[in-house]
Amino acid sequence: MNKLDDRVAVVTGAASGIGKGIAVAFAREGAKIVVADRSDASAAADVIAMIEEIGSEVLFVRTDVSDEASVEAMAAAALERFGRVDILVNNAGIFTESLLENMPVEDWDRVVGVNLRGVFLCSRALVGQMLERGDGRIINIASQLGQIGGTSVAHYVASKAGVIGLTKALAREVSHRGVLVNAIAPGPIETPLLDSETEEWRAAKLAELPIRRFGTVDEVTPTAVLLASADGSYYVGQTLGPNGGDVML
Ligand SMILES: NC(=O)c1ccc[n+]([C@@H]2O[C@H](COP(=O)([O-])OP(=O)(O)OC[C@H]3O[C@@H](n4cnc5c(N)ncnc54)[C@H](O)[C@@H]3O)[C@@H](O)[C@H]2O)c1
Repeated sequence: MNKLDDRVAVVTGAASGIGKGIAVAFAREGAKIVVADRSDASAAADVIAMIEEIGSEVLFVRTDVSDEASVEAMAAAALERFGRVDILVNNAGIFTESLLENMPVEDWDRVVGVNLRGVFLCSRALVGQMLERGDGRIINIASQLGQIGGTSVAHYVASKAGVIGLTKALAREVSHRGVLVNAIAPGPIETPLLDSETEEWRAAKLAELPIRRFGTVDEVTPTAVLLASADGSYYVGQTLGPNGGDVML
């Protein structure tokens, strides 16, 4: 008996990093997985192979979460293949850096478009069929920066604070109808997203982190399994923080 036997989960941005880890962890718990990523199937080959090796079913749908038609097509493909989606993990996200005074409008729009609009579009596309069954989980990957802010990342911080607000708003709309919505706000986690960071940034961040090290994907995935499974049945509108102490609420 696994924690997610026969559940169907859509994980956006599952070709890499945290999303890949969550997709594999869910498959290990018995879930069937829809990998929805902007990258092509070759970039997702690794996660697809890992899920198949576990013996679970997997569907890859190339998706741009910021694009309404692409998201609607992904939802339709997932429902056609599996008949329902029980769990949605809104994980796809991007990160760029510049001071607000120099920030190109296109950068603002792109980051907010993927990180926040994408969560809205995917949630809207899949929450209806969860409500029809009175059963579902939506897990939004925010960031600790959405809680504490950060320099040169105003768009990212605003998008992630927006994700936390959206999580609370949707949780109030749907929890009593059987759909639980929560967020995870990780601290700095070793994934390709951090590759663009300078050594100076890494050293400064490590010095201020109470735990003095960056986290691993495997230190985030158990929180996602908790929120997706029966163990998480009393979490509503929460933002859980595997963050090494970067935020203490
Ligand atoms: N790594 C960290 O330190 C950290 C910390 C806090 C929060 N996060 C959040 O975790 C999530 C995953 O980040 P990660 O570190 O694994 O990054 P990553 O770059 O390793 O993976 C992101 C994935 O999202 C996909 N993606 C990007 N834009 C997309 C789009 N428009 N549509 C569909 N897929 C898209 C990418 O192709 C990639 O596979 C993001 O939301 C990120 O903001 C990361």
